[in-house]
Amino acid sequence: MKSPLQSAIRFSRAWFARASFLYFVFALTVTPAVADDAGGVTNIFKPDGTPARTISDYTILVLVICAVIFIIVAGLLVYTVTRFRRRAGDDGHEPPQVYGSNQIELAWTVLPILIVFVLSLVTARTIAEIQNAPPPPKALQVTVVGHQWWWEIRYPELGIVTANELHVPASDAAEPRPTFLKLESADVAHSFWVPQLAGKTDVIPNRDNQMWIAPMTPGTYLGNCAEYCGTQHARMLIRVIVHPPGEFETWVAAQQRDAANDMQVKAGRDLFFSTSCVNCHTIKGTEANGKFGPDLTHLMSRETLGSGAALNTAEKLRAWVRNPQRLKEGCYMPDMQLTDEEMDQIVRYLQTLN
Ligand code: CUA
Repeated sequence: MKSPLQSAIRFSRAWFARASFLYFVFALTVTPAVADDAGGVTNIFKPDGTPARTISDYTILVLVICAVIFIIVAGLLVYTVTRFRRRAGDDGHEPPQVYGSNQIELAWTVLPILIVFVLSLVTARTIAEIQNAPPPPKALQVTVVGHQWWWEIRYPELGIVTANELHVPASDAAEPRPTFLKLESADVAHSFWVPQLAGKTDVIPNRDNQMWIAPMTPGTYLGNCAEYCGTQHARMLIRVIVHPPGEFETWVAAQQRDAANDMQVKAGRDLFFSTSCVNCHTIKGTEANGKFGPDLTHLMSRETLGSGAALNTAEKLRAWVRNPQRLKEGCYMPDMQLTDEEMDQIVRYLQTLN
């Protein structure tokens, strides 16, 4: 006689197994389709450029080795469980017990050691290949500073400061033009991660970390902060915009210019300079030289606001200036308590910063 408890356990086990199987099938089939439709989701299995490709090749090697081990172990287990299951008519005696087998014990000791040895060698080689790569003379040098919750992006050799969107030239196998990033933090630990371009590198206060990317295909690559850094960690997004040959120089020239000074929006400009906006933001060529928030010199050349919190549209910019806390709760930009008219004037001024 089975107790009710045993029946309940058996019943929940059966359903747990079914649910796990369904979830597994769902994860394999449905999730990638949804992810592709959303468009904002990136993929570690679509690497572009050397570091990401090296890491991806290595990952696939490890996954294949693990899959083979899994199939062998699970296969033997399933075979044993079915082949030697309890059958009607069994005599109830304990089967013969076997103790010690030198061959089997040697095999299951030596084989795993060899596998681990090979994997650690490949790991060491992959890490060394990426970390020790010397920057070629044509490499672009960029400093990325993590802030709560946005990225400051500086091009010291080009005299450009921008935010949240890293522009780089496309690299080329014949003439590599990688971008070397120096990573700094202004406050807490962050982590810079653009899955299609390279691995994660932590951004740590009082420590300079290095990484590099060498994307070959022009386009936009999405990334995010990968180390929990406070309330808005999830809205600390990165965009890497890879320009085809020639186009990067055009972007550089546009960014090197001082901010536009359009007399038609003088009212908004004057208002902006009379508020505490200037204590936090820099606008090149003006007296605004705050360092706490993102540089606004070419604000309108950026695709997003608030480090990816919203697309940089007229409507969202208005909502952002109206009350940044609505779009990105907890961020350090305060609600400036502007009247509707003041807000319109400031937004009109900001929209000339192209
Ligand atoms: Cu910065 Cu998480």
